[in-house]
Amino acid sequence: MGLAARLAAQLQPGMVIYLHGDLGAGKTCMVRGILNALGYSGRVKSPTYTLLETYHAAGLDLCHFDLYRLQDENEWESAGFRDEIDGQAVFLIEWPEKAQSFIPPADLLIELKILPQGRELVIKGKTTMGWACLEQL
Ligand SMILES: Nc1ncnc2c1ncn2[C@@H]1O[C@H](COP(=O)(O)OP(=O)(O)O)[C@@H](O)[C@H]1O
Ligand SMILES: [Mg+2]
Repeated sequence: MGLAARLAAQLQPGMVIYLHGDLGAGKTCMVRGILNALGYSGRVKSPTYTLLETYHAAGLDLCHFDLYRLQDENEWESAGFRDEIDGQAVFLIEWPEKAQSFIPPADLLIELKILPQGRELVIKGKTTMGWACLEQL
């Protein structure tokens, strides 16, 4: 089973996952893999312009953010994104560095790098929930 599927099986309500990596590193692909593993069969679009796409799969609410084009905290507030932080939805956030000071802190960090052949992936736990998840992978 691939990492996306193993991770999908360990997701808990309210878990926050940051996805770091350059354009094209595979962040959206990872989210797609997680959603597919949860049984979501619709199209998983990159939230490049909408900033947020929401999903419901396997009993979980999921919020997939791409904050590359986010201007500032005002835009975050006025788009109503703060209201999505209800402790239930799983947050998968691409380009968290654009909004570090006002988005929820990460339970897990995933860093993706493009290598001459393939990809490198580093995954780190940042909270008790994150470490518990990694132990089960
Ligand atoms: N693990 C991977 N191995 C090889 N190619 C990948 C991998 N993940 C993504 N790609 C390719 O890289 C391209 C960009 O991926 P994407 O997930 O959109 O990047 P990002 O969201 O990080 O900008 C996709 O067209 C995909 O085919
Ligand atoms: Mg992307």
